[in-house]
Amino acid sequence: MHIAGATVLLTGVTGGIGGAIAAEMAARGARLILTGRRREALEPLADRYGARTILADLADADDVLRLTEEAAGTDILVANAALPSSGDLLDYTPAQIDRALAVNLRAPAVLARMLAPGMVDRGRGHVCFVGSLSGMAATRSSSLYNATKFGLRGLSLAFRQDLHGTGVGVSIVQPGFVRELGMFADTGSATPGGVRTVSPRQVVKGVTRAIERDVAEINVAPLELRLLTRIASQFPGFAERVQRRAGAEKTMDAIVAAQRTAR
Ligand SMILES: NC(=O)c1ccc[n+]([C@@H]2O[C@H](COP(=O)([O-])OP(=O)(O)OC[C@H]3O[C@@H](n4cnc5c(N)ncnc54)[C@H](OP(=O)(O)O)[C@@H]3O)[C@@H](O)[C@H]2O)c1
Repeated sequence: MHIAGATVLLTGVTGGIGGAIAAEMAARGARLILTGRRREALEPLADRYGARTILADLADADDVLRLTEEAAGTDILVANAALPSSGDLLDYTPAQIDRALAVNLRAPAVLARMLAPGMVDRGRGHVCFVGSLSGMAATRSSSLYNATKFGLRGLSLAFRQDLHGTGVGVSIVQPGFVRELGMFADTGSATPGGVRTVSPRQVVKGVTRAIERDVAEINVAPLELRLLTRIASQFPGFAERVQRRAGAEKTMDAIVAAQRTAR
């Protein structure tokens, strides 16, 4: 799918990675529709990229539906917005659980469901979900984030098969820990176990490659983390013991504390 000239709907543009994706899409000549829940953060981006903006809270089902109507004609959906959803499940209220599921999983599913038929009619389009390696390997204090990102991976890989032969591709891009900007960098914490990070640029490259070459899944992380994730996805009991021995609890607790207000 060519990005130049395509209408691209991007969620989570007021965040770290979303901002980087918007800059790259604009540089490649996409017609951008930027969506977010904060008008004051969206408007400067609209000016910078000559983009249309649609204000929407992805935790609100009515807002999500209105967004799909206002963004009809989208050629490429980049479903990037998410909540960090870190911390023990036992620390979450039912309303916070609903919000995590709504923003991280329900909204991407509804956006894809409502925007893909137009793409199919036109015989061209792409849906790119931004997941996480947390969609393949479970870690302590991440049950809701793991749940939504595992779910997003299933949604993406199966929806891709449903749309096979229609001219519409579906991809999931799964980063590891991203440095410099975004929900992990914002915590100011080291990585658990000292694992290496990736740059925002590498994630953006993953997204553009997924769209242009219609790749099912792209994992953006250092080789050792990609391998450990594969092993963890096959042998979760073993991975759990390895993680405990690595003694990453303190780092994980610091990340959870820093992300506590974003539930
Ligand atoms: N950063 C990492 O290390 C990392 C690693 C793996 C995967 N990822 C994934 O990369 C994607 C982008 O993450 P990021 O690091 O850029 O995070 P971020 O800086 O926290 O940005 C998250 C974005 O989601 C938006 N959002 C949250 N709740 C929303 C709601 N109810 N309605 C509308 N928008 C909402 C935020 O809007 P506000 O600005 O209004 O809060 C923000 O624009 C996510 O899917 C994340 O899971 C990130």
